Amino acid sequence: MAISSIFLLATFSFIYGNAVLPIEATHHVYRNLQSLTSDSSNQPYRTAYHFQPPKNWINDPNGPMRYKGLYHLFYQYNPKGAVWGNIVWAHSISKDLINWTPLDHAIFPSQPSDINGCWSGSATILPGGKPVILYTGIDPMKNQVQNLAYPKNMSDPLLREWVKSPKNPLMAPTIANKINSSSFRDPTTAWLGKDGYWRVIIGSKRNTRGMAILYKSKDFVNWVQAKHALLSAQGTGMWECPDFYPVLNKRPFSIGIDTSMNGDDVMHVLKVSLDDTKHDHYLVGRYNIANDIFVPYIGFEDNQFVLRYDYGKYYASKTTFDDGKNRRILFGWVNESSSVADDINKGWSGIHAIPRAIWLHNSGKQLVQWPIQEIESLRVNPVNFPTKVLKGGELLQVPGVTAAQADVEISFEVNEFEKAEVLKSWTNPQILCGKKGAAVKGGLGPFGLLVFASKGLEEYTAVFFRIFSYQHKYLVLMCSDQSRSSLHKDNDMTTYGTFVDVDPLHEKLSLRSLIDHSVVESFGTEGRACITSRVYPTLAINDKAQLYAFNNGTANVKITRLSAWSMKKARIN
Ligand SMILES: *[C@@H]1O[C@H](CO)[C@@H](O)[C@H](O)[C@H]1NC(C)=O
Ligand SMILES: *[C@@H]1O[C@H](CO)[C@@H](O)[C@H](O)[C@H]1NC(C)=O
Ligand SMILES: *[C@@H]1O[C@H](CO)[C@@H](O)[C@H](O)[C@H]1NC(C)=O
Ligand SMILES: *[C@@H]1O[C@H](CO)[C@@H](O)[C@H](O)[C@H]1NC(C)=O
Repeated sequence: MAISSIFLLATFSFIYGNAVLPIEATHHVYRNLQSLTSDSSNQPYRTAYHFQPPKNWINDPNGPMRYKGLYHLFYQYNPKGAVWGNIVWAHSISKDLINWTPLDHAIFPSQPSDINGCWSGSATILPGGKPVILYTGIDPMKNQVQNLAYPKNMSDPLLREWVKSPKNPLMAPTIANKINSSSFRDPTTAWLGKDGYWRVIIGSKRNTRGMAILYKSKDFVNWVQAKHALLSAQGTGMWECPDFYPVLNKRPFSIGIDTSMNGDDVMHVLKVSLDDTKHDHYLVGRYNIANDIFVPYIGFEDNQFVLRYDYGKYYASKTTFDDGKNRRILFGWVNESSSVADDINKGWSGIHAIPRAIWLHNSGKQLVQWPIQEIESLRVNPVNFPTKVLKGGELLQVPGVTAAQADVEISFEVNEFEKAEVLKSWTNPQILCGKKGAAVKGGLGPFGLLVFASKGLEEYTAVFFRIFSYQHKYLVLMCSDQSRSSLHKDNDMTTYGTFVDVDPLHEKLSLRSLIDHSVVESFGTEGRACITSRVYPTLAINDKAQLYAFNNGTANVKITRLSAWSMKKARIN
């Protein structure tokens, strides 16, 4: 569908730093900015500090990068409505990854190789500092092909205009390569080997075998498909938005490294977004660049043990190396859980998660994620509780914070292990959380937080732990229970959950939740397990929302830390 006519219809100004720059934007965007500032009361679910455009549909984060000291974020966007369609690359910039300024759309259909859509892709910074973007275009035959774009003016730190290579498409399905032309998309950031070859992977599938197709190039323009995929796995279906990057396997683990780095102290991560399940799974392993073989420690054959970035709503994520703060940052799309009718009614759909720093846990077995430290600049009015025993059945209100827009950290110490419920056989943790929600009394747990709670507890979302005794060990379950999150039942209220690799005999159980009107992002045991959920309370909105710590087990637990902050609104788009 041609969408170019909606561009450049109106002009308005925005403030960037101290200068006022005139930029061009659409009439639609302008009007909506006006309406939002004047009437937020009708929009109880709009977030205050999560990334989202003023209106319409947003999905995958694209091409995040740092250039000349500024962060750039592009995203899949429908300029025409609150449902998926007419996809372009919208573009925002930031100095701190929290406050964002919108620019004109960066990439939109304009040549045959992308005339039916500009889908997801990634940025690569070439030696010498030139950024380039590889993205998926939909051609006149509706084939998925890969295209290259580069900045028109590298002196412009805002990278406002992008030029497409006249050689596009650079990678395309053919009869010879047998690539499925409906399943060939989302190029990664490329990485450079000592042999002088760039490498990039593209998500694909053959029948039900998901695969990361590998291409190589010396000049970034002429790409040749490698003899074998970087990895594939039977039965996993389409691999969308692959991401492949190195992590440091030595102290200090939390230091991020450039995507082309490799060596003895480095492990690699392959993340794929499974179209069939709508989850982002990752594999940790060793990558031998000489023969381009990636060997994960745990593969998809080991099914239930394949890890996820997030056990709630979180998809199509992508990392970038931030050379300013030497960290790897993860961006992800958080879909709505409301009906399409409700999305159209409120005029928008989709947000991005708070950017997360991501690194290898010192066990070498899994990743750790933590909200970027910049988010703490939004914290105001701290509330701190002294150490306190929370008795079985007790509810503790956390007063003095704007509970619909807050950041809270809590840590528990448990002792009465004899009261742990016995788990007879291994059970899918999400199903276990569904069966044993917050309202099901337990032994050691459930204990945790009630967020978006209404005054009479008609509505609440419960994020909690429950400890089981299983095969002479203790198994820690982390759940996010949405079953009572709203009196409006037209939402997906599925309960989410995962087991956490933590030893409750020797470690505290910590939980941090970022709460923002219709989203709660929870980080268990210092970022070893994350669960994001979307909820749409009808009573617990704005200043009617309350926050509690709760314990619905028979065992007492000790709160060793409880700190909460109100969060300021960020300036977003
Ligand atoms: C390139 O960008 C710089 C910085 O914004 C600007 O001063 C210069 O005029 C631009 N050049 C062109 C050809 O637009
Ligand atoms: C190619 O991908 C499309 C879209 O998922 C699918 O419908 C079709 O069955 C695939 N063909 C093969 C041979 O896998
Ligand atoms: C987004 O949410 C809707 C409504 O819950 C669901 O039908 C759809 O499958 C979700 N898509 C993804 C990618 O999570
Ligand atoms: C705690 O358990 C009781 C009994 O099952 C239940 O009625 C109550 O709603 C639960 N509390 C919470 C916060 O779920």
